[in-house]
Amino acid sequence: MDEGGRSNLAPYSFFNAFCDEPHIIGFCSNGWKDTVANVAKTRQFVWNLATRSIAPAMNATSASVPHEVDEFVLAGLTKLTSCRVKPYRVQESPVTFECACTQLVQLQDAHGVPVEAWMVFGEVIEVHIDKSLITDGVYHTAQAHPVLRGGGNGEYAEIHAEAIFSMQAPD
Ligand SMILES: Cc1cc2nc3c(=O)[nH]c(=O)nc-3n(C[C@H](O)[C@H](O)[C@H](O)COP(=O)(O)O)c2cc1C
Repeated sequence: MDEGGRSNLAPYSFFNAFCDEPHIIGFCSNGWKDTVANVAKTRQFVWNLATRSIAPAMNATSASVPHEVDEFVLAGLTKLTSCRVKPYRVQESPVTFECACTQLVQLQDAHGVPVEAWMVFGEVIEVHIDKSLITDGVYHTAQAHPVLRGGGNGEYAEIHAEAIFSMQAPD
């Protein structure tokens, strides 16, 4: 959401979790796009898990459209009010995080020359998880059917029950 309250929505596969205490997640914008520009001003954003059922809508939100275009409307997704930040959440997404920006870092190459890419880090200040995905207090990734961007042209992968295996970390 920008300073004027206009919504913005886009997929970011250069994304990860980076810290568990406090919970810090981040994503990288290749180019100064609407999402990073909005976060730079408002210091807030919302992350929504992309799942198989909303993958086409997620893809639609990546269209290069003018700043004024609300990608929620473009993709037919529903706005859900957040608890602690102004940007809306995606109602159709079963896992959403409300985030407060902690750092905005411009990347640089091996010679220290700044490149047109910015990492946005945010502390997760509110977590929303659909209760159907939690059993005995544990969140089950596969039940959400999240999607991942693969290589190639338009290739994606879906996480489902058969893709899960267990492994214990060494002491
Ligand atoms: C699956 C998918 C993942 C993407 N991941 C990124 C990414 O990590 N970083 C990036 O800069 N653009 C990424 N893009 C492209 C942006 O979503 C696209 O440029 C979008 O228009 C940016 O919207 P914004 O200007 O509203 O932020 C991705 C596109 C798709 C379809």
